Amino acid sequence: MRPPIRFFATAAKGIESIVAKELKGIDAQNIQPISGGVHFEGSMETLYRANLWLRTANRVLMPIAEFSCTTPQTLYDNVRQIRWHDWMGLEQTLAVDCNCRDSQINHSHYAALKIKDAIVDQFRDQTGRRPNVDVRSPDLRVNAYIVKDRCVLSLDTSGDRLHLRGYRRQAGEAPLRETLAAAIVELVEWDSEGMFIDPMCGSGTILIEAALKAMNYAPGLLRCRRTKGFGFQRWPGFDRKLWGKLVDEAKAQIREKIPGRLLGHDLSKNAIQIASQNAKEAGLEKQIRFSRGNVLNLTPRGNKGVIVCNPPYGERLGELDELKSLYKSFGDVLKQRCTGYTAYLFTGNLKLAKFIGLRTARRLILYNGPIECRLLKYELF
Ligand SMILES: C[S@@+](CC[C@H](N)C(=O)[O-])C[C@H]1O[C@@H](n2cnc3c(N)ncnc32)[C@H](O)[C@@H]1O
Repeated sequence: MRPPIRFFATAAKGIESIVAKELKGIDAQNIQPISGGVHFEGSMETLYRANLWLRTANRVLMPIAEFSCTTPQTLYDNVRQIRWHDWMGLEQTLAVDCNCRDSQINHSHYAALKIKDAIVDQFRDQTGRRPNVDVRSPDLRVNAYIVKDRCVLSLDTSGDRLHLRGYRRQAGEAPLRETLAAAIVELVEWDSEGMFIDPMCGSGTILIEAALKAMNYAPGLLRCRRTKGFGFQRWPGFDRKLWGKLVDEAKAQIREKIPGRLLGHDLSKNAIQIASQNAKEAGLEKQIRFSRGNVLNLTPRGNKGVIVCNPPYGERLGELDELKSLYKSFGDVLKQRCTGYTAYLFTGNLKLAKFIGLRTARRLILYNGPIECRLLKYELF
């Protein structure tokens, strides 16, 4: 039996344990969450599955070398020793991401250039030609993490970040990343049976991710349809047959019918158009109903389900006063008209959240990029 391969799924701070849970679901081994991601082991099949199924990770990295490096020259020499023909062809493009911390090499951009030079110089020496660089959408993305003079050099197996599912052609005001929206969906524990309402849905990301999860729809299937696919699909050793089998398996696991109902509202006509278009791109136009409406007129049917929303945070001063009144009135709507529901508010502005005026049953810290945010839970009796 082949020895297991080590991988690392990067994740936004606060959602590492969710990524670890997802990895368990695809039978990854030796799963170890740390700050910023999750180490795991498995085979190439595990790697393909991880890219196909993970909803909340940013990227899946595969370390291919680890060495000590105290100078740019030692970095260059070590990178040149790797057989780069195993991972890319001369006609393919390349990009290098680098992050240096607590090391003698302390300039990430310069270190990335040295790594790129080592790779292209190897090709030039062997063939007389060199591959091109494409920082936006390369065929091979190399990732270097240099901490305390040790470099872990990895291949980015995902290529583009995993939040780029391919369904979001347009975005409204302050859209959430698809991976963060998927983490919120995981945390709100919707049972897929009652209502799932986002009354300030913007481009519809939370609802689309909720529908995908309820349908057991592997998010990577959308990417295959709409984009260049994953980084590992462009490696010379890509196992097309195995990938095809995993894709077919994932398609067979989709549940077309969701017992519950997903509803999205927004004050903005433009947001509703964008959300509807995004849902259509994801093939979910039948699963989610969008309509224009003010959250202050929300009167949900029945008394079972979740209300999940990400109201505007407000950055400008005048806006803040208006938002205080919006949060307060929304709190009154929840209290008076949403009995039996559980509400979740995702916000980066805790001062505003206080204006909701309801007792929080739970508060979780999540990061939206660098912004520390809260997912606040309210039980509405
Ligand atoms: C931060 S954005 C939501 C972004 C969304 N989660 C996404 O991923 O695209 C907040 C949304 O609240 C909407 N909004 C603001 N006031 C509203 C109101 N009174 N009723 C309904 N929607 C409102 C805005 O139009 C905006 O689309």
